[in-house]
Amino acid sequence: MSLSLKIENVWKSYNREPVLKGCTYSFDKGGIYALMGQNGSGKSTLLRICSMIEKPDKGIVSYISAGNVLEQDISLKRKITLVLPTVGVFNDSVYRNVAYGLKIRGIPYKEIRERVCNILELVKLTHKKDQHALTLSSGETQRVGIARALIIKPEMLFLDEPTASVDTANTKIIEDVIPEMKSRGITIILTTHDQLQAKRLADQLLIVKDGKLING
Ligand SMILES: Nc1ncnc2c1ncn2[C@@H]1O[C@H](COP(=O)(O)OP(=O)(O)O)[C@@H](O)[C@H]1O
Ligand SMILES: [Mg+2]
Repeated sequence: MSLSLKIENVWKSYNREPVLKGCTYSFDKGGIYALMGQNGSGKSTLLRICSMIEKPDKGIVSYISAGNVLEQDISLKRKITLVLPTVGVFNDSVYRNVAYGLKIRGIPYKEIRERVCNILELVKLTHKKDQHALTLSSGETQRVGIARALIIKPEMLFLDEPTASVDTANTKIIEDVIPEMKSRGITIILTTHDQLQAKRLADQLLIVKDGKLING
């Protein structure tokens, strides 16, 4: 049974300046949701709140599975992940950067190897596996970030402007990976400034405008 997310009347202000003014939506159909909106409209804020990194000032964020609202504990947090527009990598190889999330979960060495190889293939970074991650281009770094998120098999994945600082070739690879994630049953909620990209990828188009979340 898949995981769904419901937000109800979510408000958030910074320095008494309201950014989100009552956002309500049910992400309950799976697939790919694209969030658009002007710079500063609150897209990243909304993703941080949805992924439970920040709390709203008011309103409810609930994750639901099989009709039950889930406890916001570590087991739920392990099912969701957020990839930021600027991915931070560790001072180590691409392979070890991607393997890290499995290593800390105590996954056996052989399984780690298999899963890392599989994911690196998906994001087309197999030939870069031994390269020092800090020497990658921004597009490749973004793909490492996506690989690192996917390796832990999330059920819901938030991608904040996954192709914002990425050239056309890297954008194409990332755009190909996103439907592949969907076919693996992952719900994807992404933000983008590229209307054509949103139309290409999204099952549901949403806009953050005047602090509200509306259908696009
Ligand atoms: N931690 C923060 N402290 C102060 N202001 C913030 C913080 N996070 C976001 N903001 C402000 O909230 C508004 C919305 O930001 P953001 O969610 O990043 O917008 P978007 O992602 O749509 O460009 C902006 O005016 C931004 O400056
Ligand atoms: Mg943003």
